[in-house]
Amino acid sequence: MDLKKYVTIVEDWPKPGIRFKDITTIMDNGEAYKYATDQIVEYAKEVDADIIVGPEARGFIIGCPVAYALGIGFAPVRKEGKLPREVIRAEYGLEYGKDVLTMHKDAIKPGQRVLIVDDLLATGGTIEATIKLVEELGGVVVGCAFLIELSYLEGRDKLKDYNIRTLMQY
Ligand code: PRP
Repeated sequence: MDLKKYVTIVEDWPKPGIRFKDITTIMDNGEAYKYATDQIVEYAKEVDADIIVGPEARGFIIGCPVAYALGIGFAPVRKEGKLPREVIRAEYGLEYGKDVLTMHKDAIKPGQRVLIVDDLLATGGTIEATIKLVEELGGVVVGCAFLIELSYLEGRDKLKDYNIRTLMQY
């Protein structure tokens, strides 16, 4: 299936000059959403993941069905102030802005094989911070999966030591 057919390009959003890749038109199509999920499920099997980690909010949309399909857990990465118990935090620079990501201190058991899943690899800042959180908790990052990679932003350069799978490249 050519997944790109289901991505909607939105010109000049959220600000002039940005061609936003809207994946809601993948999600609202049952076949496309299932196909994309299945690709990542296969990758999760290849890398033998035993838990999925995804950053809010779109990482949940992609990561949760993968965890469900495999019958494994999902641990959320959230922006500051959203998780109710003790957290660890990591700062990161975004494609447009700056923020803090957090995870519950007990979300990952030391030695767990973690697959990180998100919709988009842009500058790589979000995923770099997510990797930092997972590793601080003792998790082993066995892979990172994205629906979309914006190759021109060179996010992959930040992830040289990691196994990466992207379903679409722009
Ligand atoms: C977007 C996207 C990725 C991240 C990619 O999330 O869903 O998580 O940016 O950018 P990067 O590679 O430059 O870090 P955003 O922070 O906009 O949050 P949202 O999913 O809650 O909209």
